[in-house]
Amino acid sequence: MARDAVAEIRDRTDIVELVRGYVPSLKKTGRTFKGLCPFHQEKTPSFIVFPDSQNFHCFGCGKGGDIFTFYMLSEHVEFREGLRELARRAGVELEPGAAPTPKQDEHRRRLVEINQLAATFFGHVLQRASAGADGRALVEQRGVSPEMVERFGLGFAPDGWEHLTNFLSSRSVDGPTGVEAGLLQERPNGGYYDRFRNRLMFPIRDRDGNVVGFGGRALGDAMPKYLNSPQTPIFDKSSLVYGLDLARDAIRKHDEVVIVEGYMDAIAAHQFGHENVVAAMGTALTEGQVAQVKRGSKRIVLALDADTAGQMATLRGLETMRDALDQDMVPIPDALGVVRFERKLNAEIAIVELPEGKDPDELIRKAPERWPEIVRRARPFLDFTLDVLVRDVGRDDARGKAEVVTRVAPLLQQIPDRIVQGHYMSQLARRLDLDERLVVSEIRRARARTSARPSEAADHPKARRRATEDHLLALLLQHHDLTRAIAVRIPPDDLLDARNRELLRILSDPAIAGLTAEQVVAGLDDQLADHAEALLSAVEGQPEQFPGHVQRAVTQMLDTLGRERFVFLARQIQSNIEAAAREDDTEAVDSLRGQLSALADRHRQLYPPPSPYFRDSRSPQGQHR
Ligand code: UTP
Ligand code: MN
Repeated sequence: MARDAVAEIRDRTDIVELVRGYVPSLKKTGRTFKGLCPFHQEKTPSFIVFPDSQNFHCFGCGKGGDIFTFYMLSEHVEFREGLRELARRAGVELEPGAAPTPKQDEHRRRLVEINQLAATFFGHVLQRASAGADGRALVEQRGVSPEMVERFGLGFAPDGWEHLTNFLSSRSVDGPTGVEAGLLQERPNGGYYDRFRNRLMFPIRDRDGNVVGFGGRALGDAMPKYLNSPQTPIFDKSSLVYGLDLARDAIRKHDEVVIVEGYMDAIAAHQFGHENVVAAMGTALTEGQVAQVKRGSKRIVLALDADTAGQMATLRGLETMRDALDQDMVPIPDALGVVRFERKLNAEIAIVELPEGKDPDELIRKAPERWPEIVRRARPFLDFTLDVLVRDVGRDDARGKAEVVTRVAPLLQQIPDRIVQGHYMSQLARRLDLDERLVVSEIRRARARTSARPSEAADHPKARRRATEDHLLALLLQHHDLTRAIAVRIPPDDLLDARNRELLRILSDPAIAGLTAEQVVAGLDDQLADHAEALLSAVEGQPEQFPGHVQRAVTQMLDTLGRERFVFLARQIQSNIEAAAREDDTEAVDSLRGQLSALADRHRQLYPPPSPYFRDSRSPQGQHR
């Protein structure tokens, strides 16, 4: 039944009309439609809609998919929500409650249920059990009101190894599922134990109020101060915002959202009536988080402690990695990143630098009525960033000035409006006490330089990956009947070239069974057909092969592709680690190392036999070789 609803929505939705709402430049060219891609910045259109197959593809950024993908990417929502909205527009009724989605979704719901169960358990301990006495003392000492304990669902994880483990097992949740839900850990020699022990528990909910994970605060000075749920199928810290479920209405009403850093900060704000406040859960504000809050209001104020604010204003040059890294990795926003979020998401981000050593929790509890005034002091992110960069440069510091101009150039280049851009250029010139024409011409030159630099370091692995990829697709095309079973299992995201991804999709389709490669090519649209022909001509004249050989060759190439992809990403992260280390940016270094080891973990899962690249994943410095 669920499948029918999806198919029905697809049938009733005209992808061209859907896309046109986001891409006004969309124009018919032959059998397809073409326009400027809404997912990346471009001047000449490389975004194509295929009305026949109801698909889209951007040949620039590689994004592609069907109406659901398009809507999810455009509105930054999950499949389920996209489905709901597109169903509404198409006039298709979905069964209420029973979310009409695949098995995977069923599983996610189960994991949410288990987290909800744990929240109830922790809540009970905090409110009533003798094992919760230390938690109650902490809550009291921090001045958190009983209403807030209730509203935020605070709890306490008792001291001990198997409290939750036993509780879950009494509710027929087995160990492996508890681990997958992010609540339990496996003992090296069998058995399970509680991940959270002796901690004040903050349930983390999605915007609809589902408990998807926890942050647990240590009592006293135990380390780490906060232990969070690990990444799970339902918990992705990079797209969650703490307190959003409770702040949604207030954000709409005020048409403004304030983002603070910590759990305690958000709770204090709510306690004193400032309900449009949410927490980013640490310092790395992500695009996913901005996208979440922006749906309530595009006026976003970051209330950050002086340290974090200062770090955000820096330009770390990590922009290249955002494009290359998988979505499940957390980007570190520097000024460039933030400005890009603003532009891409059409949000206005302003920043308030809080007094040294004070967090919103303290400020609000000391003088709740002054909070609105503090928020009003927020300044547009770009102004703030220029301030930070300029403020340390002395009047006579010629080199310092040169460096600021060079570093600011990529930021100012991102400003699409020339008047606004001019404003900032003259402001910069004035504040550095330089001739404005000089600043303008320097910034232009920097533009020429950046666009001419094809990121040499990354290019070799990239070229290699493309070659392997093309070869693989050529084989898949030539022998599609033999290789279809393999083709359907290849994650499209593993392919760099959007045309290859579209080809893969077609080659996975049993409908083409029995056709020759030439017949398949004849059915493609022009752009794709050209590409496919080029692929075929490259493998032309290769000897006939036995089925077993073809399949083995394809499997081997897939393996190679996976490794090349890993090397490509690992090198990028590695070079960013080196850059961050040169600047003594330990926070960035730590976070990047985390990404590197996550990458290695994933790689290890996908490609079990050890390769020299991840033998030493726990100390990424070892990767220098
Ligand atoms: P803070 O160190 O500012 O904590 O970290 P806090 O929220 O003010 O907590 P108190 O007032 O010391 O009790 C800000 C946020 O960063 C994340 C948490 O989300 C925290 O609320 N964080 C911090 C972690 O995830 N892990 C940590 O070890 C520390
Ligand atoms: Mn605090």
